[in-house]
Amino acid sequence: MLRLRWKYSGICRGTITTVIEDGLQVVPNVHICASSLGRDDLGQPANRALDSEMLLNFDRVALFSVFFSLHHSFIAAVPTANVRPGAKSSGRERISINDGWKFYRSETNPDGLSYQHRPNLPSTANTLELKAWILPSGNGFIKDPANRHQRPTSDPAANATFAQQSFDASSWETVNLPHDWAIKGPFYQGDNVPVTGGMGRLPTFGVGWYRRKLTVTSKDQAKQVYLDIDGAMSYAMVWLNGNLVGGWPYGYNSFRLDLTPYLKEGADNVLAIRLDNPTDSSRWYPGGGLYRNVWLTKVDAVHVAQSGTYVTTRDVSPTSATVDVVVNIESKSNSSQKVDVATGIHVFDATTGQVGDEIADLTRSTISLSGGAGQASGSVKIENPRIWGPYATQQPHLYIAVTRLYRENKTIDKYETRFGIRSVTYDSDIGLVVNGEHVEVQGVNDHHDLGAIGTAFNVRAAERQLEVLRELGCNAVRMSHNPPAPELLELTDRMGFLVFDEIFDMWQRNKTTADFSLIFDDWHEPDLRSFIRRDRNHPSVVVWSVGNEVGEQYTNETGAALAQKLVDIAHEEDPTRPVTASMNYAKPYMDFPHPFDVLSLNYQGEGIRNAPAYSQLSGIATAPQYPVFHAAFPQKMLWSSETAAALSTRGTYIFPVVNGTSAPVNDTSGGNSTSYQVSAYELYSADFGSSPDKVFAAQDQNPFVAGEFVWSGWDYLGEPTPYYATRSSYFGIIDLAGFKKDRFFLYQSRWRPELKMAHILPHWTWPDRVGQVTPVHVLSSGDEAELFVNGKSQGKKTKGEYEYRFRWDEIVYSPGELHVITYNNGIEWASDAVRTVGAASRLHISADRTTIDADGKDLSFISIEVLDADGNIVPEANNEITFTVEGAGELVATDNGDPADFTSFPSNVRKAFSGKALAIVKGSAGQPGPLTVTATAEGLSSSNVVVETH
Ligand code: GAL
Repeated sequence: MLRLRWKYSGICRGTITTVIEDGLQVVPNVHICASSLGRDDLGQPANRALDSEMLLNFDRVALFSVFFSLHHSFIAAVPTANVRPGAKSSGRERISINDGWKFYRSETNPDGLSYQHRPNLPSTANTLELKAWILPSGNGFIKDPANRHQRPTSDPAANATFAQQSFDASSWETVNLPHDWAIKGPFYQGDNVPVTGGMGRLPTFGVGWYRRKLTVTSKDQAKQVYLDIDGAMSYAMVWLNGNLVGGWPYGYNSFRLDLTPYLKEGADNVLAIRLDNPTDSSRWYPGGGLYRNVWLTKVDAVHVAQSGTYVTTRDVSPTSATVDVVVNIESKSNSSQKVDVATGIHVFDATTGQVGDEIADLTRSTISLSGGAGQASGSVKIENPRIWGPYATQQPHLYIAVTRLYRENKTIDKYETRFGIRSVTYDSDIGLVVNGEHVEVQGVNDHHDLGAIGTAFNVRAAERQLEVLRELGCNAVRMSHNPPAPELLELTDRMGFLVFDEIFDMWQRNKTTADFSLIFDDWHEPDLRSFIRRDRNHPSVVVWSVGNEVGEQYTNETGAALAQKLVDIAHEEDPTRPVTASMNYAKPYMDFPHPFDVLSLNYQGEGIRNAPAYSQLSGIATAPQYPVFHAAFPQKMLWSSETAAALSTRGTYIFPVVNGTSAPVNDTSGGNSTSYQVSAYELYSADFGSSPDKVFAAQDQNPFVAGEFVWSGWDYLGEPTPYYATRSSYFGIIDLAGFKKDRFFLYQSRWRPELKMAHILPHWTWPDRVGQVTPVHVLSSGDEAELFVNGKSQGKKTKGEYEYRFRWDEIVYSPGELHVITYNNGIEWASDAVRTVGAASRLHISADRTTIDADGKDLSFISIEVLDADGNIVPEANNEITFTVEGAGELVATDNGDPADFTSFPSNVRKAFSGKALAIVKGSAGQPGPLTVTATAEGLSSSNVVVETH
């Protein structure tokens, strides 16, 4: 398979501009007929993107024959590497360098280097601190020139053995990016281990080195060549040919380094990246490594700067809108330069990737630069705009602004900015108003790991997470508590989610011994400015958060002053969006809330430890804070950035069931500290939390509240409250494998009131509970429900005020069937049934998608259910399942959603948990064909599914 950059120029015709990630050199600007041969990353044929460049996957043999037969052009089979001269009219190339890295990890400090001294740093005696060489990498994001950093004149790099060109890394592991070095495990179990439950019990810590060769041609020498890293965990330091280029400590931010001064012509440029992941650096699983995409960007000396455009919209109505575009231009040329800047606006269909005709353009302007930076700006009115709005009531329409720089009428740069036209107001009484419509925020919190595949970013895995959330009725995501992968925001733009974009979990006051607080003073400004510049064109982003539950809540005016400083920076970078920080402690009478435009409460809104079942707990008890915040800040919109922190494991029911609507977990109430499971009656929470029912009531009693972000949408690695002996969280509405907990249906019943649904819990196979009280709860969007036990009505119930489920708490178990019929406004609405099942008899396998791309990245998520002879799921089945994958692909990972399962994720043997298990498979890159996934288990009939990769 050959990957090309392709410019479409008419039906079935186009121009190859660059070869990417392959050992062939193409004569550029050769016209070919390719519509039937090429497919892009989404599997779409080549002829769908007008006047845009895109990546295409070609069958190499077919491509050769096309070249020879149509054009008699020649492709030289020169086995060179990856940086290639694109004789491109647009002047800009963005080349993936994800493949073919050499990787080495050491649990101790293998090279005597460090960013700076820090607690827990191994072998501090002779370490060479490189901070002074790294700090200048942030200079582009430090406003006051006096605060920028001067690189030391000496070069310390000679000591970095692993970075030298001559170093032989052939014995190192070969890896492709994105890469999370820790996810394969094994898990650390028990006490006195280097990584405990909070950080997921996986080997995240240590020093990791990545090396890769780059080829530079003579034409590249005339270019600026940048390294763009979307995320590196953490303390990245980059060498090229033994020269320390720079780095970026914060593992969640994207950054750019200028490789140009150190590149040499030839195939032997060695890029070496050192990462250093401290122990005790995080409250959750951080992952480790080059876990997002890495790119080379090659541009003319005069080019659109990093994150160089800023597109905003105003005066938005169905008939017109004004688009304002600012273009920041950077010149690395020593001579004075004159360039023309022009931006055209195109409709963009993010689902098909189709770029439409130009519908408007901004007046061309001329900029004179003598080195350094320049700026062009302009506005254009769009008639009858296609508005971006959130799911489910609006459509997420997108546009692309195509900016071109011209020198003497020759295009020297072309830069695309996706954006959306939308208006958002933040109303203190109504809540969020998007394009004139009140949108109740039905949000969840999202950590950056993708379950069994870890933090290595994967578009399909993230898309799947959002798809399940959309089914839930969720319309908003809080990126807790750090900048997300850039592609995740492309997904939220495309799928119509509102985003609470957050950068820090701590400021100067730490939460763990080696967290970001150690470098906050040096890095908060470059991190915050680069984060906002990166993300501010995304229509899905509706608020900036500069912090989560920071310790500065407790430091009165000192903390508030720091908050104000961060708010000011954010306003400078983007005056169009409000700034917030999440508060679990600060009260209206304190200094801390004042600087923020929007008030974001964690748990305080519905009250903390203020229900009867929590009265015995130690810790601060807080009355519901919504009314007092609203009264003290009548002009500021108020919402909850974290609610609930409810706990459960899927399919686990523990008796007796608490009478009230919300309770903390302990061994007599909802929890089992031996099996490490929490009851899925969905009434239990962390000590500071509340059940969903309690949160809903608080929201309904205070209708001015704009909505909530539930902690959490999906389970995530680490933070396994309340059982830190395990590996992953209990907070999710959806478990780590992607299976729905009962809670899913409670949220769905509220968030999608028009959806006819009813859901009974618990399951009804309790051989040991015959004659015992076994409460039955029904979750439904209906307002009335009638339950039948073995055909006998238990009477009708209606939901009272501030009630969100139907409860029959006195049902005595006998085998048979539960059946519920729900009603809405007296009309039959939805029904559900569960029955006592027989012994496990067979496996049932199914794929979320049976056709995927053969690109080594696209995934199929395969679910396995353990069924009885009649096809019912056996609710507590835990059979050991073996997966085999044959054909054109491989197994990536398995899971079952059990927080206490320490089987390594890549294992092909996995026990079912509560009747289910998951396998994740991918196709082999460039080798399309069928792959067959088979699940077998002793004593059960096996099952298989075929996934076609193409
Ligand atoms: C909050 C915190 C989250 C998570 C959650 C559940 O206090 O902001 O990051 O820790 O509690 O424990």
